[in-house]
Amino acid sequence: MKTRFKPAGIIGIGSCLPENVLTNSDLEKMVDTSDEWIIKRTGIRERRILDKGQPAYSIGYEAALRAIEDAGISAEDIDLIIVATETPDYLTPSTACILQGKLGARNAAAFDLNAACTGMIYALSVARQYVSSGTYRYVLVVCCEGLSKVTDWQDRKTCVLFGDAAGAVVIGEVEEGYGIIDTYLGSDGEAGRCLTIPCCHMDESDIEKRTHENKRVLWMDGSEVFKFAVRIMEHATEKILDLTGTLPGDLKMIFPHQANVRIIEGALKRLGISDENMMPVIHKYGNISSASIPVSIDEAYRAGRLLKGDKILLVGFGGGLTWGSAIIRWNKNQPGDTGVN
Ligand code: COA
Repeated sequence: MKTRFKPAGIIGIGSCLPENVLTNSDLEKMVDTSDEWIIKRTGIRERRILDKGQPAYSIGYEAALRAIEDAGISAEDIDLIIVATETPDYLTPSTACILQGKLGARNAAAFDLNAACTGMIYALSVARQYVSSGTYRYVLVVCCEGLSKVTDWQDRKTCVLFGDAAGAVVIGEVEEGYGIIDTYLGSDGEAGRCLTIPCCHMDESDIEKRTHENKRVLWMDGSEVFKFAVRIMEHATEKILDLTGTLPGDLKMIFPHQANVRIIEGALKRLGISDENMMPVIHKYGNISSASIPVSIDEAYRAGRLLKGDKILLVGFGGGLTWGSAIIRWNKNQPGDTGVN
């Protein structure tokens, strides 16, 4: 007998940003840079930074609470928690286990997943398998990043780019024809050395690249990553459109990973997709890694830009190197709506 796969989709969403704002003019006092250079080369005006001593899981926890509330379920209903992060507060316990304890999700299994800035798409793809197969009813995905903790605040090439943030979604069964239509994932480990954050090991080249005292920081060959990002964003978008038989004109919105406005504008232009179809957050949050896609979806949803039946495309790329894309037919109305279009 043929197994029936359940349609799975986002049934709840939430996000949380730290309160501390770090502006470009604050950065002018820390390194040799200017507000004008940062805006022109990246589109970033300010970013949010965790307080000294504040763990990244604290914002993951708030985002998770909001997503659970939006889904109309309780923490005890959750069967699995997946945290996508490249900046876990601890290697063990995992951030997912920390959140499982803090949320009181006593029936949930929990693990972290690291696909850097592509974490949301990887986690979505894994969560979907569990729900579609009927193994689990509710999977909580939390994308939780504290990049300020691995930033070299003396390196002007990287410290102007990143910020801290968390976004969360609950994946559950949805109506036939709605939810996650398909996902596409890819990786290229041979090219991975152009973006590194060392942890338990560092080789000679890792040490040489980091010119300042603190060596456990993010290092990036910006122009190599830039070229990769433009090429792969286009590839991953075309691939998922092809896999799902979707035309760019069918899309209500596109949610790319937001690392640099120049990357997004370049790729969207070649794809023939208007940038009016996206929800910009990079100007106020910077590059927030895996949290970028769920935070921008949450803001679009709460601003009333997403309605039931809308087709949206998610596309991410990042360290590893990794990339991925997804097409979703949005299955929720605005928060507070009755559910009738
Ligand atoms: N302020 C002022 N000048 C800066 C600067 C800063 N914050 N950072 C770099 N510069 C300087 C460089 O030193 C260089 O000077 P030089 O020509 O005298 O050597 C000049 O600006 C140009 O540097 P370059 O690295 O070529 O700039 P760019 O236009 O490529 O922009 C990035 C740099 C990092 C913004 C861009 O490469 C980028 O966005 N890369 C991808 C980042 C990314 O997506 N990362 C995460 C992947 S998920």
